[in-house]
Amino acid sequence: MNVVCIGSGYVGSVTGTAFAVLGHPTTVIDLDQNKVDQINAGASPIYELGLDELIRKTIGKTLFATTSYKAVREADVVFIGVGTPSREDGTVDLSYIKSAARSIGEYLSPDRFTVVVDKSTVPVGTADLVTSIIEEASGQTAEEDFTVISNPEFLREGYALEDVFFPDRVVIGTSHPRARKVMRELYHNLLERVNYEELSKDFTFAYNWNSPKATYFETDVKSAEMIKYASNAFLAVKISYINEVARLCEALGANVLDVAKGMGMDSRIGEKFLQVSSGWSGSCFPKDTAEFLETSRKYGSELSVVKAAVQSNEKMHHFVVEKMQRHLKTLNGKTVGILGLTFKPNTDDARKTQASTIIRQLIDLGANVRVHDPKGMEMFRELNPKLPVGYCDRVEDVARRADGVVLLTHWKEYLQADWKRIQGEMRYPYLLDTRNFLPHKMLVEMGYIYEGLGIGK
Ligand code: UGA
Repeated sequence: MNVVCIGSGYVGSVTGTAFAVLGHPTTVIDLDQNKVDQINAGASPIYELGLDELIRKTIGKTLFATTSYKAVREADVVFIGVGTPSREDGTVDLSYIKSAARSIGEYLSPDRFTVVVDKSTVPVGTADLVTSIIEEASGQTAEEDFTVISNPEFLREGYALEDVFFPDRVVIGTSHPRARKVMRELYHNLLERVNYEELSKDFTFAYNWNSPKATYFETDVKSAEMIKYASNAFLAVKISYINEVARLCEALGANVLDVAKGMGMDSRIGEKFLQVSSGWSGSCFPKDTAEFLETSRKYGSELSVVKAAVQSNEKMHHFVVEKMQRHLKTLNGKTVGILGLTFKPNTDDARKTQASTIIRQLIDLGANVRVHDPKGMEMFRELNPKLPVGYCDRVEDVARRADGVVLLTHWKEYLQADWKRIQGEMRYPYLLDTRNFLPHKMLVEMGYIYEGLGIGK
């Protein structure tokens, strides 16, 4: 099967590499020459554990990268994996999708049937829009010469390879019999784990080899598009819920870690996504909940649960600052060290993170802020050029003369930090661990005034 992936961002580069690894000749197309050069040089255009290795292994063999759309002519399947940024009002900007669709239309072969796949997260109805653009640009007839389907991605940043090779489910949205056949064939090796033993030699980190095989779920195109939004919004609701429970635990003197554990033992609830934090963020949940909400309003059926989850999440960011303020009395003139700028560990992604909201509030309240992140400082600085914070290359430097240190992202580097030395740097040893992640007994013994989230006294 000849595969093309449009876009070498998160979705495109991971999807493209995965199909190349599974043996399908795959061409990644991106208009950015730098990214294409990077892939051709055997390097990943994004920061993702293990991806470099797989690109190096497949480039020039089954994986190809180019700025030209010519490969679309030979393609059986064309994935659209370009960016879908948010507009001011929360709705998705589809301009990259539209221009990819136009280019696909211009190059589509009249001699073969092509399945065009929306892989990026796109609003319900986008497949229809892409269909009409391709029809117009190609002069070909939808459903006869080509069809547009939905196959949403469920990758988590930092765990993308695990999610792509060991998904819980593969959702295919199309009622077109030929497209269904093509997609079954395309996914066969992944579903049956063909050559996975060979693949295991390339992985430098652990996978759950015993996890059950993926469920392959065929549905109509609109339901597939909706599954992606409904899933992300549900996960966001789940986190907001446990974060609210955490706040109540603090007020009532309960321990949210045990509460989450006890809840998660119910298989109907499940233990995942019940980890307390200063709120969810990143490039997916904020964007997807905003779009889903806007759409629901447009159709007169506002998703009030999702709306509440978004509001509750904002409250959770504030709660962290308030908690600090309660302890330190005033933040005016105080020095605060921040550990973690990315929205979660194992990524350099510092877009739309809780860190930027929390840091802005701290600065507004008069605090001096120093920050550290193992991978996200460069992006954070680029995105927040005017933010007056001190960037520190070493963990202990954020603590220098600090009146408090807040851990926002649970990087394993922070577990291994020299906490004795950090304490020695601090003016007042207040440590707020928003992920309940650090070994608090040891820290208290060292003399820290340690607080987690949701752990009542
Ligand atoms: C999310 C979904 O988990 C993926 O399934 C989906 O494919 C992806 O969005 C997407 O739409 O592309 P991602 O944004 O990479 O993946 O990150 P998550 O691991 O879901 O975390 C999102 C946020 O929730 C992070 O800020 C994380 O720290 C927070 N979180 C997660 C919690 O606060 N508590 C939890 O228990 C879990």
